Amino acid sequence: MSDFAAVDVIRAKRDGQVLSDAQIDWVVDAYTRGVVADEQMSALAMAILLRGMTPAEIARWTAAMIASGERLDLSGIGRPTADKHSTGGVGDKITLPLTPLVAACGAAVPQLSGRGLGHTGGTLDKLESIPGWRASLSNAEFRDQLRDVGAVICAAGAELAPADRKLYALRDVTGTVEAIPLIASSIMSKKIAEGTGALVLDVKVGSGAFMKDAGQAAELARTMVELGRSAGVRTVALLTDMNTPLGLTVGNAVEVAESLEVLAGGGPPDVVELTLALAREMLDAAGLPDADPVETLRSGAAMDVWRAMIRAQGGDPDAPLPSASESELIRAETDGVVRAVDAYGIGLAAWRLGAGRARKEDPVSFGAGVVLRVRPGDSVRAGDPLCELRTDDAERIPGSLDQARSAIQVSSGPAETRPLLIDRIA
Ligand code: URA
Repeated sequence: MSDFAAVDVIRAKRDGQVLSDAQIDWVVDAYTRGVVADEQMSALAMAILLRGMTPAEIARWTAAMIASGERLDLSGIGRPTADKHSTGGVGDKITLPLTPLVAACGAAVPQLSGRGLGHTGGTLDKLESIPGWRASLSNAEFRDQLRDVGAVICAAGAELAPADRKLYALRDVTGTVEAIPLIASSIMSKKIAEGTGALVLDVKVGSGAFMKDAGQAAELARTMVELGRSAGVRTVALLTDMNTPLGLTVGNAVEVAESLEVLAGGGPPDVVELTLALAREMLDAAGLPDADPVETLRSGAAMDVWRAMIRAQGGDPDAPLPSASESELIRAETDGVVRAVDAYGIGLAAWRLGAGRARKEDPVSFGAGVVLRVRPGDSVRAGDPLCELRTDDAERIPGSLDQARSAIQVSSGPAETRPLLIDRIA
């Protein structure tokens, strides 16, 4: 591999030049090895954020991040593989019912998931509220479970795209998260390295998502679909609304409980709608278009896979879920119609109650969170409950009360109603 001076690569991007393949390969590798310093990579990330990258540069950057670690080969699993990635939202528990559902329909679902940071929750934090369940698996355990159960949700190992792990932590503290080339290459390097054959992206748009604007979200989706395609992964993206939280629960154990309702054939209509839409896309992309996810939910077959998946990772699917010791109801102050339930405000309230973490080493409270009692469009009378705050620490309630109260707007005007599914990009 040729050697460059980091400062020349930074200057080139700062001045709007297209980086060569050799420059990209070198800088990603040298950063992973600690030869390029954090301050140099920060400057380059900021230059990329401001100047952008061509599709060819993004593809090469992604390939270099994949090459920084190991690439799993899932070809011996015996079933087609399909995965889903969400760019993150409030109340987004869809992975929980979706993974066993798609597995029960005949695909194998390798879900490498993350923990929450900031106002959006993490799938692993939610699952860890199940007594005994463990997030870390060896590569051998991951493959065996994928073959035997068809569904795995676990933590990504340190060997998968280590360049991204290091760069993402740096971007988080240098104001360089919001660059489409860096987001797309970060997400897709991990998904391609994981070895899935098909991938469905749930790109969130709205107040509770990190893309607030549909145009930008569509550009991110197109960039990721193209990266997947060119790496031989059948990739489709759905753009979905994240102005309102998904379902009625935001937290950890409360979201597991709501996912179980979906697997039992009930659950909130928006969670069911998105779970089924993503399942159909995953099954199509995996070459199983005749599978029937509605019937698979109804028959209990998806619940059977859930139970096997939880047991395989040491969890007890019958154990009671943790509940918070303190709770407080927020009630409507006037008669009216619920105009909006703002995802960002509710996400922040749940975070303040202890459901999320401020630093990545902080613990989360499994029982904490927000349980909504209303959806946009519902009519309420003064005194009716709007939502319930749950926490293990009563001192956290005042800090989240105003946040949650102002997130739920009640007035006499019409409700904000938006379709959940905004666009499909293939
Ligand atoms: N999720 C990721 O994995 N990477 C990003 O850059 C943003 C969201």
